[in-house]
Amino acid sequence: MAKILAVTNQKGGVGKTTTCVNLAASLVATKRRVLLVDMDPQGNATMGSGIDKHALERSVYDVLTNQCTIKDAIYPTPEAGFDVLPSNADLTAAEVELMEIDDREHQLQKALKKVGRIYDYVLIDCPPSLNMLTVNAMVAAEGVIIPMQCEYYALEGLTALMETINGIASSVNPKLHIEGLLRTMYDPRNSLTTEVSRELIHHFGDKVYRTVIPRNVRLAEAPSFGRPVLKHDRHSRGAIAYLALAGELIRRQEKAEKKQAKPATANAS
Ligand SMILES: Nc1ncnc2c1ncn2[C@@H]1O[C@H](COP(=O)(O)OP(=O)(O)O)[C@@H](O)[C@H]1O
Ligand SMILES: [Mg+2]
Repeated sequence: MAKILAVTNQKGGVGKTTTCVNLAASLVATKRRVLLVDMDPQGNATMGSGIDKHALERSVYDVLTNQCTIKDAIYPTPEAGFDVLPSNADLTAAEVELMEIDDREHQLQKALKKVGRIYDYVLIDCPPSLNMLTVNAMVAAEGVIIPMQCEYYALEGLTALMETINGIASSVNPKLHIEGLLRTMYDPRNSLTTEVSRELIHHFGDKVYRTVIPRNVRLAEAPSFGRPVLKHDRHSRGAIAYLALAGELIRRQEKAEKKQAKPATANAS
């Protein structure tokens, strides 16, 4: 079954969408089957993957409000090699319409169950708020990836985010955990960056990915061409960093699975 990860941080501009698009492409480069779910009405992940958000016949909005099946709303990307459940401004209405639905927190989870066998990874790009759309993402996911910029106010929003994650874990989704914290737009020459980074590692230990994403102009340019950086400039520092992140994510998962499998092997022998 697919490993479902929500990429979230209620702060805007920290690199959630950039991480979703480029991690998706990097996982594809290692032969994984990936679905990217755009849960932000801004539709940046949709556009950044090369799909025109203004020309959608169906979107994640229709899926969340039970107007079509998930399979009817999935689009293949023209270049990037992964699939997208896209979004556009219609999704703004879903917030209100979901309030009328009894099982409102579970809508995305229910839909993703139907395609769980088709993919190895599902990445969910969240909007910059802790609203019902983000809650749907966290109820559907098993792990949360938190991209953050190492700047002065970076740690401030983390408390509210942790409370939301813990709230969901202790009620509807006990398996929900922090998959990893990702330092984005990283500049090691900036002393504040290294200080915040140290603090992050102090609080979260090895939950902080070793891979850091540097500030890289190729990463910022690629969305205007509707493609991930791997297809824009595969030798760029940004492309190499996201490939490294995919590698780290996969290695961590393999390690965790080995750990889980060990007791069973011991009993068998
Ligand atoms: N590592 C990076 N280097 C340079 N620019 C980046 C990097 N990551 C993101 N950006 C740019 O910063 C802006 C915000 O990033 P985005 O991924 O859209 O954040 P979010 O989804 O959290 O709002 C975008 O213009 C994006 O192109
Ligand atoms: Mg975004």
